[in-house]
Amino acid sequence: MPLVTSKEMLIDAQKNNYAVGAFNANNMEIVQAIIETAQEERSPVIVQASQGAIKYAGLDMIVSIVRALAEKATIPVVLHLDHGTDYYQNILCLRAGFTSLMFDGSKLPFDENVAMTRKVVEMAHVCDVPVEAEIGQIGKMDASDEPGVAQERIKEFMADPEEAARFVKMTEIDSLAAAVGTIHGCKEQIAQLDISRIEKIRDLTGVPLVLHGASGASDEEIRKGIAAGISKINIDTRIRMAFTKAAGDFLDQNPDEIDPRKMLGPAKEAAKEVIRGRIRVLGSNNQA
Ligand code: G3H
Ligand code: 13P
Ligand code: ZN
Repeated sequence: MPLVTSKEMLIDAQKNNYAVGAFNANNMEIVQAIIETAQEERSPVIVQASQGAIKYAGLDMIVSIVRALAEKATIPVVLHLDHGTDYYQNILCLRAGFTSLMFDGSKLPFDENVAMTRKVVEMAHVCDVPVEAEIGQIGKMDASDEPGVAQERIKEFMADPEEAARFVKMTEIDSLAAAVGTIHGCKEQIAQLDISRIEKIRDLTGVPLVLHGASGASDEEIRKGIAAGISKINIDTRIRMAFTKAAGDFLDQNPDEIDPRKMLGPAKEAAKEVIRGRIRVLGSNNQA
């Protein structure tokens, strides 16, 4: 079916106590893995592209691949801009056919974050495209960071519930990424979600909440987060790890193989298994 927007998809998840997986993609095989698995699991799904993904693959290429696969699928698929830190990037994605946007002004002072987010919302809503934005700061682990670094960095910029409520009211965003206990790029499941903070933000804002950096959260933490009001769960690192390991293992075992398809096939299958596992934990299977 044609791409859908994330508006109704996230409201349905919010009402029915499950979450939709938003999986990052940088290449054709990962987009295939996301949409094929969602189809097999009868799950609504969000394919998201970061600015880095757009730089790597090209905006039109991403839209074409996602659109072609979504049109063949019978489950709803959203194409979302992940962490668009630039107003113009949001305009370009809207024009290119993205059906969900994110303005990430989390590094800006509060008033500037409000003003820029509001500008993106005004533009996107003219086209009925919903917008996610960030409050607090969800940090990032570097590959060389020790796992212990994560806990300290997570605590540094947690979202303040009252500020989150003012932010949503002033910007009229459709979903909110709030810093509530995770960090991007975490290879171990060490995140401890601040459940009472999530509940306060849910009660004060009313909009679907988004958990970023969810690769670092255990199944139990994710289930608690969903029960507290999380409706969209972002996953990238787990897919990267599985995809790259499978490709590396293949090359180790077949050092003379030169056909990239032989390496990328098992990598795609490994990504599918990760995505299937996440979809089942989120409870979005059989919701489409
Ligand atoms: O939150 C960030 C996503 O994992 C995308 O990462 O900017 O390296 O594409 P990236
Ligand atoms: P992880 O890479 O930690 O799973 O985070 C993904 C994410 O939040 C994308 O916006
Ligand atoms: Zn993120």
